[in-house]
Amino acid sequence: MSLREIDAYARLPLPVVAAQDNELILEDGRRVLDLYGGHCVNTLGAGDVGLARVLSRQWHELSFATNLLDHAPRRDFLAAFEPNLPLAPSGWQVFCTNSGAEANENALKLALAFTRRRKVVYFKGAFHGRTAAAAAVSDTKLPAFPNAPFDALKIPWSQSEVAQWAIDDSVAAVILEPYQSLAGVTEPAPGFLEKLRERCDQTGALLVFDEVQTGSGRLGSFWAAQHFGVVPDVFTTAKGAAGGLPIGLTVAQTKFASGVPGKLFGSTFGGGPLALAAAAEVARRIAEPGFLANVRATSAALKQAALRGPIVRVRGAGLLLGLVVNSDTSAAAVRDALLAQGVLVGTSDDPKVLRLSPALTLRPHEAERLARALDALTVRA
Ligand SMILES: Cc1ncc(COP(=O)(O)O)c(C=O)c1O
Repeated sequence: MSLREIDAYARLPLPVVAAQDNELILEDGRRVLDLYGGHCVNTLGAGDVGLARVLSRQWHELSFATNLLDHAPRRDFLAAFEPNLPLAPSGWQVFCTNSGAEANENALKLALAFTRRRKVVYFKGAFHGRTAAAAAVSDTKLPAFPNAPFDALKIPWSQSEVAQWAIDDSVAAVILEPYQSLAGVTEPAPGFLEKLRERCDQTGALLVFDEVQTGSGRLGSFWAAQHFGVVPDVFTTAKGAAGGLPIGLTVAQTKFASGVPGKLFGSTFGGGPLALAAAAEVARRIAEPGFLANVRATSAALKQAALRGPIVRVRGAGLLLGLVVNSDTSAAAVRDALLAQGVLVGTSDDPKVLRLSPALTLRPHEAERLARALDALTVRA
C-alpha cells in the first residue's frame, strides 16, 4: 500500500484496539487510563450505553435528512440544550455545524455582519481552529493563509489595560477561550473577563467565548459563562457537545442573531439527526442530578493526586487541568513516562505543562491511578 496520510500528527506508540469508559484497551490486552478523553470529546466516556441506545434508535428512525426538512431530533435537541444555557435577557439562538473551527467561523461572521465593522481582537496564545477566520485569530507559529479575511489584532492575554486600549468602536468582536487550553490551561486574571464585558458594552464590540473545550460541563458548570459569572454575546462549542460525534454550535443572544441575515449560514451535515440526537443526550445527561458534582469532586481528587513527583503546580478547573512539571524535566518526557505506567495524559504548547481532559464520568477514586503512576516515575528530561 503506497497511500499515506499527510503527516499532520505526531502519533503516540499506543496500539489501541478498543476503549471502554475511561480505559483504552491495547492490542496486547493492556488497559491504559485515559486522562486525555479524546481531547475533551468523550464527555460520557467511551462506549456509553445510553448514547449507544440513542444513536442506534436514531439511525433506524431517521439516519439523515436535508436541512430543508425539520425533524424531531432537532426539536428534541433544542429543548434539551436550552435549560443549561446561561441567562440572557433576549434568549439565545443556535446554528449547527460540524467542528469548532466552523462554529468560530460563524460566530465571527455574525459579529462582522451585525456590527458592520472589520476588526477582530484576539489574544496571544489563542487557538480557535484551522479554517481561514479561525486561523486568523489563532496564535500559531506557522501562518496558515497569506491574508486574514478581516483585520485581526493580537493583544497580550489577560492584561486589562491593553484590552481597554485595543477594544474601541472599530472592533466587531473580541474572541477568547475563557481558559486558554493549548497555551497550557492558562486562566484569566481575576476580573479580566468582567473588564472585557464592560469594554465590549461600552464600544459595541461583541464578546465571543470559544467554549470548544470549556463547554458541555467541562469546568464543573454547564458553560464557562456560569463558571466565571460573565455572559458573552456569542459563544461556540464543539468537541464534547455530542460525546464523540462531529458537531459545532454557534450560540448567539437573540438580539444579535436576529440582526443578521440567516442566509449567511449553511451546512450540509450540520444539524443532522444523528449528531443532534447525540447532543440532546449529552445535554440531558450533564443536567442529571450529581453529574456536575462528580466533575467537581473528580477535579479535586485529580488535583490532589497530581501534586507529587515531577508535578509542582496544578491549574485549571473541573476536568480541564494543566499540570506544571519541575525545572528538571519536560511535559513530553513526563507524558511518555506516564504512558509506560499505563496512564495517558496530553501535552500543550507550553513545554512545561501537561493537560488532563478526561471523560466527565471519571470517578474520584480513579485519580489514585495517576498518583501511583507519578510515584513510580523516574523521569529524565
Ligand atoms: C479552543 C478551541 N477552539 C477551536 C478548536 C477547533 O476545533 P475543531 O478541531 O473541531 O475544528 C479547538 C480544537 O482543538 C480548540 O481547542
